[in-house]
Amino acid sequence: MNTNLANDNVQIEQILDAAKQLSISYLQQLDERPISIDQPSHRLPLLSNEGLGAIQTQQLFEKEFLHNIIASSGPRYYGFVTGGSTPAAIAGDWLTSVFDQNTQNAKGNGDVSAMLEMHTVQMLLQLFSLPNVFMGAFVTGATMSNFSALAVARQWFGKQKGYDVALEGLQPGINIYTSVPHSSSVKSLSMLGIGSKNIISVPTLEGRECMDVNALKATIEKFPDEPFILISSGGTVNTVDFDDMEETAALKKQYNFWWHIDAAFGGFAACSDAYKHLLKGWENADSVTIDNHKWMNVPYDSAVVFTRKEHAILQVQTFQNSNAPYLGNAFDDFNYLNYVPENSRRFRALPVWFTLMAYGKEGYKNIVETNIEQAVAFGELINQSDEYTLAAPVRLNTVCFTVKEDNGRKEKIAAVLAELNKRGKVFMTPTMYKGMSCIRAAFVNWRTTREDVDIAIVELNEVFDLLNTL
Ligand SMILES: Cc1ncc(COP(=O)(O)O)c(C=O)c1O
Repeated sequence: MNTNLANDNVQIEQILDAAKQLSISYLQQLDERPISIDQPSHRLPLLSNEGLGAIQTQQLFEKEFLHNIIASSGPRYYGFVTGGSTPAAIAGDWLTSVFDQNTQNAKGNGDVSAMLEMHTVQMLLQLFSLPNVFMGAFVTGATMSNFSALAVARQWFGKQKGYDVALEGLQPGINIYTSVPHSSSVKSLSMLGIGSKNIISVPTLEGRECMDVNALKATIEKFPDEPFILISSGGTVNTVDFDDMEETAALKKQYNFWWHIDAAFGGFAACSDAYKHLLKGWENADSVTIDNHKWMNVPYDSAVVFTRKEHAILQVQTFQNSNAPYLGNAFDDFNYLNYVPENSRRFRALPVWFTLMAYGKEGYKNIVETNIEQAVAFGELINQSDEYTLAAPVRLNTVCFTVKEDNGRKEKIAAVLAELNKRGKVFMTPTMYKGMSCIRAAFVNWRTTREDVDIAIVELNEVFDLLNTL
């Protein structure tokens, strides 16, 4: 055995202790750590011949690179839709690395971690009050969840047309109806060979990002007997608007379509009695995307794809890894690798299992409702400000706003964000909404407090004043 490896093997306690100490000091100083880095500085060493051993490697990392690690899991990181990690999720994630299971087979050809994945899926269904008609599988993020669901939808479409996409390849002519899909669904259609140009864009309700169901009906009626795939938004990324799930469910009784809902973070509205109506009817979907590294507050990278159990054969047709006899029969022996793109799979369910067990339904209701209160409070402060204005009402946990002055808005927004993020206390990301440059602030972190909301407003006002003096 290599000497460094042999030494590290003996010193495993010191190595993990050093990683633990670094973890604790990072977490304890999260509030003071910059939330973005303007100009990263580091010296990246060449690959050494002998290697340094784990302890010295961590020391080198601390010296050369640690200062570049930002507080993205901190309470004032409002960019994208990035959650932090709960303490239990961190523990579960650490142990996932230590255990290093290859999560595939629930029957237990050695590794039974898939049983816990199934149990975690059951708990997720309970968290979201979804019926037991869904199976779920862990993937790396909502992009892969959308991709996986749409891949099964593609297989379903082929079946309606009398061919097997997985065996024969795709034939042109798949119609996709959607209004305001997340970019990752569009990307998925490209990756799946369906082609994003095959999207038939359904108009939204006036001034909203949600689908006009009457317009959808009119679109369907042009070819009422043609099967199609419908992608609904369970929370748009800019203004968290929801397509009407109940009305869509009613259409499902009338027309032949695969219904996919991207509820990457909006699905968490189901945790709150006050907001669960936004999803009423979503249990009738064929597939649903949920992102765990958003409002679940587990570390990257983790999402789940729910698909109706009745579509299991289509799913296995799509993802089967059947030309490997040593892996068993894809249709007879349950194995996750026949249900998702990845063959080898990290024990990704463990951090979710830990955090669900640790905080339960009440814990998630509290995180969701607290973040929504913060978004509403932030939105009110934006509306009271002299410089900024809301671009859309605050519907859930994300605030989409812009500068009041429309002259030179694009440049002003870019300058505000550059300065705000450079200061390192608060982080937000840009967007375009209805052709207008805007800023998004997404509240999904369990650590965020009302004080953090006030800090964000103070920062935004100071940045505006500063830019005016230049
Ligand atoms: C609605 C929605 N869908 C999909 C995604 C893609 O998620 P991921 O980056 O985890 O793949 C996002 C990310 O913000 C999202 O908000």
